[in-house]
Amino acid sequence: MTTRYRVEYALKTHRRDQLIEWIKGLLAVPFVLHSQPTIINQEPGEGLTTLAAADTHQRYAEIMQDVERLIEAHMHHEKVSLPGKSKLKLLVPTVGTFFTPLHLREAFRYQDQRRFISRRRFVAPSFNDIRLILNSAQVLGLIKTSSVELITFDGDVTLYDDGTNLLSDNPVIPCIIRLLRQGIKVGIVTAAGYSEAPKYYERLYGLLDAVHENGVLTTAQKDGLVVMGGESNFLFRFNPAEKSKLSYIPREEWLLDEMRSWKEEDIKELLDLAENALLTCKETLHLPVEVLRKDRAVGVYPIHGAKMDRELLEETVLAVQNTVERSAVGARLPFCAFNGGNDVFVDIGDKSWGVRACQRYLGGIEPSKTLHIGDQFLSAGANDFRARLASTTAWIASPKETVDLLDELDSVTITHAKAS
Ligand code: IMP
Ligand code: MG
Repeated sequence: MTTRYRVEYALKTHRRDQLIEWIKGLLAVPFVLHSQPTIINQEPGEGLTTLAAADTHQRYAEIMQDVERLIEAHMHHEKVSLPGKSKLKLLVPTVGTFFTPLHLREAFRYQDQRRFISRRRFVAPSFNDIRLILNSAQVLGLIKTSSVELITFDGDVTLYDDGTNLLSDNPVIPCIIRLLRQGIKVGIVTAAGYSEAPKYYERLYGLLDAVHENGVLTTAQKDGLVVMGGESNFLFRFNPAEKSKLSYIPREEWLLDEMRSWKEEDIKELLDLAENALLTCKETLHLPVEVLRKDRAVGVYPIHGAKMDRELLEETVLAVQNTVERSAVGARLPFCAFNGGNDVFVDIGDKSWGVRACQRYLGGIEPSKTLHIGDQFLSAGANDFRARLASTTAWIASPKETVDLLDELDSVTITHAKAS
């Protein structure tokens, strides 16, 4: 049953992506005006249904074209340092920076062929329809107006199911090898934070062994694979000479200048504060968890395989985030509090720093030539969200969607190369 509490809870802005909601609202108008719920499919009136769908397709496509233009204008205003003039910013105040144009009309056509959005008479264009259109539009934007030099991947849910490992039969492996073969650098930017390479080998061995055993990839191409752990805290590079196929890169070799000013005392103070806030949540919400304190993170994870309610996980994230944000140290030091599906962690730094550090370590790759693929893009309690500050992004909902997106990227690349 939908209670008033649930409705209001669901309306909370941290559970909504405002750009997606706004586009959904725009498409709802032609859906209401043009969909024909009273036409029965099986009747000879099939022609009429097809006609109505074509009309709806046309209206949706026009709206996507208009949004595409608004994004172009927004990019222009940001470029000439007049962001206040952006109409898109007025309509969607939370909208951020776009590093490439988004080819929304073409992306809509592509997704409409797969998802039959304009043929639907009872279900309006949904959050997932628009999320996938935006991903396709981003892929087109990267290939047509820029190029791809680095792809960074989140781990859990993006490369493998939550809490599992990247096994050797994972279909993402051939896709990643294809990227490396094309000279594209690959980073795995995960929250999982360990200073020892064997821990990452345990998690990623399917991919690391496949890259190691691949006889077609050159040494330079294999060198293009890095792992950034703890959001932005531990960097590793592929190294076939190591048993774990990874070698740890000392911080002096990759820290960004701004990161050098992060003081050890501040890190300790912030983690102490977060730990206390987590302990308070454990007590007041009766969470069946243990607290885990690490070098650059603190978190709670369930004991005896307990499954925690989403509401309690989110309450914990928001409570801890609020406490740290309001502190002096929280203002000095970047941090990321997030809901990991069945645990809550607070990490020092965030994925914007992680992606930027990879870009710089791999030779100074620009944001417009980087794509970060992840599953956590809500504005609070999600850790891929911050990557939007450093690169273009794609929001996927399962490892299968990651594979589909990489296949789409490959086919757009081939089509574009043929055409030019
Ligand atoms: P991601 O989806 O690849 O970013 O991985 C997130 C998951 O890594 C979390 O949900 C935790 O289960 C796990 N994890 C292990 N160590 C850490 C840590 O130090 N910080 C945050 N998450 C961690
Ligand atoms: Mg994830």
